[in-house]
Parts: sequence; C-alpha cells; structure tokens
Amino acid sequence: MHICNYSLLFIPNFLRIPNICCTFAPKLRNSTTMRSIIITGGAGFIGSHVVRLFVNKYPEYRIINVDKLTYAGNLANLRDIEDKPNYRFVKADICDFDTIYRLMQEEQVTGIIHLAAESHVDRSIKDPFTFARTNVMGTLSMLQAAKLYWETLPEKYEGKRFYHISTDEVYGALEMTHPDGIEPPFTTKASSGSQHLAYGDKFFTEDLKYQPHSPYSASKASSDHFVRAFHDTYGLPTIVTNCSNNYGPYQFPEKLIPLFINNIRHRRALPVYGQGLNVRDWLYVEDHARAIDLIFHKGTVAETYNIGGFNEWKNIDIVKVLIRTTDRLLGRKEDEDMNLITYVTDRAGHDMRYAIDSRKLQRELGWEPTLQFEEGIEKTVRWYLDNQAWMDNITSGDYEKYYEEMYRNR
Ligand code: NAD
Ligand code: DAU
Repeated sequence: MHICNYSLLFIPNFLRIPNICCTFAPKLRNSTTMRSIIITGGAGFIGSHVVRLFVNKYPEYRIINVDKLTYAGNLANLRDIEDKPNYRFVKADICDFDTIYRLMQEEQVTGIIHLAAESHVDRSIKDPFTFARTNVMGTLSMLQAAKLYWETLPEKYEGKRFYHISTDEVYGALEMTHPDGIEPPFTTKASSGSQHLAYGDKFFTEDLKYQPHSPYSASKASSDHFVRAFHDTYGLPTIVTNCSNNYGPYQFPEKLIPLFINNIRHRRALPVYGQGLNVRDWLYVEDHARAIDLIFHKGTVAETYNIGGFNEWKNIDIVKVLIRTTDRLLGRKEDEDMNLITYVTDRAGHDMRYAIDSRKLQRELGWEPTLQFEEGIEKTVRWYLDNQAWMDNITSGDYEKYYEEMYRNR
C-alpha cells in the first residue's frame, strides 16, 4: 500500500490496518545498549552529514539510511562510510508505508531521525503537489509506521525517539527594520567576525506562531503539526527542530551557495533574485549535524528547539564573498568576476529575512556552533573546487534542463 497514492486517500482506516506479512523474524537485541536508528533522507545534503557523524561516532549503533534517491539524493555523498559494518542503505520511498513498517520490524528500530523531504523553495513554487506528497504524507507515513510498530512491543514507547528535522521558514518572514544593520542582542561562534549585524529587531523563537508563505514551508509546517499531533494524541515521543540555512559540502547546486560557486568557476551569470537584499542566517552543516546528535540523545520529548548560528547576511553581500573567495582560490584577479552578478526577477513570495534565536538550545543543552562563518565559507568553496568530479557528475544530465527551466527568461 502506498500512502501517497491519492486514490487511496479516501479508503477509511487505511492507515490503521497495516497489511503486513511478518516474514522478518525479529532478532533479539538489547535495546538499552544497542540502538537501531533509521535516518531518512541520508543521501541528501544534511542527511549525509548526519549519517556520517552517527556511523563514525557510534560504532555500536545500527544506522539505516532510508532514501528514495530523488534528484537530490546521491550515494556519492557517503562513499567514505558505505562499507562500515554498522551502516545499511535501503532505497525506499517514505510514502511507502508497508515497506517502512516492515523495515522497522526487521531492524527493531528504536529511533528515527527524519530528514527526507523535498527541500527547494523554487521547485515548490512550480510543483507544490510533490511537496505535499513527500513532506506531508511521507511524514505521516513515517509517524504511523513508528506508532504502530512501537505499540506492538512490550515496552512500547519506552526508550524510543521520533525526531523530525524542520526549517525556520515555517515561522514566515521577519521584517527588515534596520536595513543598515544594528548590534545584535547576542552572537555565537558562527557569527561573522567582519559582519555580525542584525537587520531587524525581531528573531524566530520557538513560541512564534507558524506563518509559512511558500508551498515548501507550508508543507514543512504541516508536517511539524502532524508530528506534534502524534505526541499530543498518542504519546509518541517526538522532538522537532527548526534550523536556519545550512551551507557546506555535498549540497545540491540548486541552492544559492553551491550554484553560485559552480557558476563563478564556469564564468556563468549569477542570477540574484530581486535586489539581492533578502537576509538569511547561515550555519555550517556539520554544526547542524552536531546539534541533531545532541538533541536526539539529550533533548526533551515534545519540545521544539531552534538551531541557528546568528549569522545574518544579505544575499548580495554573500554573493560578493563567494566571488572573492572563489577567484582567490582559483588564482584569478581580485574581484575579476563581479560583473557576473545579474539581477533577475524576484522569487514569488520571497521571504525578506530569516534570523534564528537559538538561545534555548544553548541554555538547555549547551549547544554552540564551532565554526565561524569566515572559516566555514573558505572550507566550503575549497571543497567544491577540489571536488569537481562530484559537481560535474551532478551538473551533467537533467541538471541543465532544470537550469534552463528555472532561469531562462527570468
Ligand atoms: P536535500 O534535498 O539535499 O535532501 C533530501 C533527501 O531526501 C534526498 O536524499 C532525497 O533523495 C530524499 N528524499 C526525497 N523524497 C523522498 C522520499 N519520498 N522518500 C525517501 N527519501 C526522499 O535536503 P536537505 O537540504 O539536506 O534538507 C534535509 C532536511 O532538512 C529537510 O527536511 C529540510 O526541510 C530540512 N532543512 C534544510 C535546511 C537547509 O538549509 N538545507 C535548513 C533547515 C532544515
Ligand atoms: O531557512 C532554511 C531553508 O533554507 C531550508 O529549509 C531550505 O530547504 C533551503 O533550501 C533554504 O531555503 P532558501 O530559499 O533560503 O535557500 P536558497 O539557497 O534557495 O536561497 C537563498 C537565498 O538566495 C534566497 O533569498 C533566494 C536567493 N537566491 C537563490 C537562488 C537559488 C538567489 O538570489 N538566486 C538563486 O539562484
């Protein structure tokens, strides 16, 4: 049965009566010493960093990476750990409820870290259905499978975790009350040394009302609501975190940073939306993965934690940093490629400013980012330039078609 088949939406109770044949004899495992964790979306950008961290840090855990391998999933992101004995890859769609349920039984899963999603705002504007299917129905399929499987166990939810990875975009857009920047009420290690100002006087805190604007953020908001509903209704031990923009190695070049590094390398136009004044709060991906590790193990059930580095940048400023860094590392003349900046039609419904207040996470669990932005961006540009085969492999094939559709006549 496929939860995301629209024709099935009207079949009553279809989620409550799993048509599962129990062909997998459960192997006995001591659940207090052994953990068996499904990480969904582990072949994507953030997921691959989380899988790598868990596989290397916890050799006694079993890590099962469940990924459909959409255009964004890439097993080349995990080459260095794919042969580790505590790692298993399963190609599956999170919407495929039967397969997910069976896998939970077979692997005696005790924890889920759910990252699989459609993640690109521009794609969601062109194709919202796919986002509702994967992000909403897929999350529901994961929740229901976990609930039904854990309810069959004598200890039920004891020692279990369903950890849902979400985004700051669910909170909507903050106003840019101070376009020239003001001293922020707090900074973190990730804040830029040279440019650590805030562009507004408000920040995203965990108690803010959800106000998503894009189909992507609406689908993530909806999935967050389902996760909380499963806690409030059934007692499922859930946790939700909402993180700011991540950057670092292995990000698909549809997102600003890898797309622009690749374009600078090829001296291709840099399509800056609108006037380039929108603000994002950037966090190095490994710092996000560390936060996920900490919250998975130490976070309080039913809580929400915001994750961010307090590192606000206007798009145009970050584009200039990318040009300078890439040109320098390629041995080109300083600022040689500034003329690649091309202002194009703005993204529909473009959120003005995101800025995370992550002080709850710092206060309650002691998390802090480790990498200052200047270091992180240098590492990132260098990684993309050093891994041209990885990039070339992705940008061959369908990528050029995507690029044409998204940017032609923009
Ligand atoms: P990504 O697009 O790089 O990776 C998504 C992964 O999910 C891919 O490997 C893809 O194959 C897989 N996937 C998609 N649909 C699937 C399905 N139906 N079944 C199984 N697997 C499927 O995404 P990302 O940027 O790594 O984001 C991961 C998660 O973190 C998402 O939930 C996203 O909303 C959230 N998030 C991302 C950011 C960011 O800046 N990238 C920030 C905050 C939160
Ligand atoms: O805030 C967290 C979110 O960050 C995640 O939930 C999303 O999955 C992730 O994609 C990211 O969303 P953004 O829309 O902020 O990221 P993106 O890299 O697409 O764009 C960053 C900013 O750059 C945004 O203001 C739009 C702008 N932009 C983007 C692209 C791709 C451009 O000006 N030109 C471009 O070509």
